[in-house]
Amino acid sequence: MRNAIVSGVGGHVPPDVVTNDDLVAMGIETDDAWIRKRTGIRERRFARPGVGNADIALPAAQAALANAGLKASDLDMIVYATLSPDHTFPGSGVMLAEKLGLCEGEDATFVPAMDIRNQCSGFVYGLGTAASLVQSGACQHVLVVGSEVHSGALDLSTRGRTVASLFGDGAGAAVVSGSDEDRGIRYWKCGSDGRFSDVLCQKIFDVSQRPFIPLDADGNGVVSPEMMWAHMDGRQVFRHAVERMSFAVIGACQSLGITGEDIDLFLFHQANMRINQYIAKNLGIPEEKLVHNIDRYGNTTAATIPLLMAEAVESGRLVPGMKVACVAFGSGFTWGSAIIDW
Ligand code: ACO
Repeated sequence: MRNAIVSGVGGHVPPDVVTNDDLVAMGIETDDAWIRKRTGIRERRFARPGVGNADIALPAAQAALANAGLKASDLDMIVYATLSPDHTFPGSGVMLAEKLGLCEGEDATFVPAMDIRNQCSGFVYGLGTAASLVQSGACQHVLVVGSEVHSGALDLSTRGRTVASLFGDGAGAAVVSGSDEDRGIRYWKCGSDGRFSDVLCQKIFDVSQRPFIPLDADGNGVVSPEMMWAHMDGRQVFRHAVERMSFAVIGACQSLGITGEDIDLFLFHQANMRINQYIAKNLGIPEEKLVHNIDRYGNTTAATIPLLMAEAVESGRLVPGMKVACVAFGSGFTWGSAIIDW
C-alpha cells in the first residue's frame, strides 16, 4: 500500500479583525475579560458582506497547492469540509473547483468535489477519506479543505452572545498525495454519537414540515430566532469534548503502539482554550507540544486544524520527521483523530 503524505498546506483568514471590545461596540452585553477567561479568545476575523465560503477557501487552496509544488489540474479530487456552505445546495466544493479553473479552458479536469458535513471534525474526516483514496491508488493528489464563514450566521446581540462570542471566519487546506516515502498518515479514526445532535445545532428549517419553512400571509418564508441561530448547551459540549478528545488520543497511541511522549506536536481543534488545556493536563502533555490560534481567530470549526498546520509549517514549528496528532470534536457529536509522520 502506498503512503499518503501531507504534501502541502495553506491557510487564509479574512483581513477584518473583530476584537472582544468590538463585539461590545456592536451592542452585545459582554466584556473582554469574560470571553478571554472562559474561552481564551481575544479576537476573530469576519469576512465582509459579499464574501462567501468558497471565496476564502480559494486562497487557502492555492497556498496549499503552491506549498506542494502542484497545479490545481494535478488534483484528482476535492474533499471540502464546512458547516457554513455558501448555500444549502450544491456544496461549496464544486464552487471551489470552478474558482480553481478546473471547469473551463486548458485545465478543465472536472475533478470530483465532495462536501463533508461533520462540523468541527470535518477536516479530520476529510483527511481520513483522502488518505484512504490515496492509499488505495484511486487518487494521487487530494485537496482537503476546511472553510467557514460564520459571521453572517451569528446572532450578534446579547441574546446570542454565548455562541456569537466564540466563532470566527477562516479557511485552511492540505494536499494529501501518494508517496513511496516512509512517512505520512499512519492512523485515522472518526466517530459519532447522534444522541447529542440537538446539543449543538443550527436548524434553520425542518424538512419534515410542509412547507419546510413556514410561510406568512404573503407567502414569504418565516424563520423563528430559535430555528435561525445556532443553539449550544456549552457545558455538555465542554464535558463531551474533553472526554472524547482525550480518549481519541489514547486510542490512537494504543493502536500504533506508541505513547503521548512519542508525539512531537498536538494539533487540537480550537473550540475553547480551556478544553485543550484541560485535555493537556489530563494526559500530561507539556505546553510546548501544543499550538493554538483560538486567541487570534476564535473557533473556525473545520478550518482550525489546517490553519494550525499552515501556521506551524510557516513558522518552522512543524518540520519533516515530526510525529503529529490531529484531534477534533464537534457538533453531531462527531470526533476524529489522525497521526501523521510529517
Ligand atoms: N459574555 C458575558 N456573559 C455571557 C456570555 C458572554 N459572551 N455568554 C454567556 N454569558 C452569560 C450567560 O448568559 C449566563 O448568564 P446567566 O447566569 O445570567 O444566565 C452566564 O454567562 C453563564 O452562562 P453559561 O453558559 O453557564 O457559561 P459557562 O461558564 O458554561 O461558559 C461557555 C459558556 C464558554 C460557552 C462554556 O460553556 C464552554 O466553554 N463550553 C464549551 C463549548 C464550546 O467551546 N463550544 C465551541 C463550539 S463547539 C465545538 O467547536 C466543539
